[in-house]
Amino acid sequence: MTIVTRSQKSLPLLVLLCALSSLFGGCQYDVEDPCSERSAAYNASVASVFNAHCAGCHGGTFPEAGLALDDFESAMDATLSGDVLYRISLPATDPLAMPPNGSFGSCDAALIEKWASLGAPEFQ
Ligand code: HEC
Repeated sequence: MTIVTRSQKSLPLLVLLCALSSLFGGCQYDVEDPCSERSAAYNASVASVFNAHCAGCHGGTFPEAGLALDDFESAMDATLSGDVLYRISLPATDPLAMPPNGSFGSCDAALIEKWASLGAPEFQ
């Protein structure tokens, strides 16, 4: 009986401590680069970014502008040539910006830039 009373009293304190610790944990996480978790390698992250945002048009049998981004070799060539980096660096309002719907986030662009700076590795 005594134990139950004690734990009931300390419950609000425990809830408060949990809330505070997760709050501070959240603050620390925000200070870190939120994009840094993904390894910049084709198999680890880059393929899924291209597949999600580019391959719908730049893939399949007749890719737009003859550019296939659903294939490692071709995605690597277009990225190291600077074509991909140029298009994804443009503001979404620019008619040449890729993807045309502006769905690319800053972390996606940062990942592709990092991948290019590493020489576009296929595996991590
Ligand atoms: C909705 C369809 C669509 C999506 C999605 C799309 N593109 Fe494009 N892309 C096009 C079209 C159409 C062209 C040709 C017209 C032009 O050059 O703007 C093109 C051209 C390009 C070119 C120039 C190719 C060349 O040789 O002239 C690059 C580079 C490019 N896209 C990269 C990308 C990247 C990277 C993504 C994803 C982040 C992407 N695109 C998403 C439709 C799309």
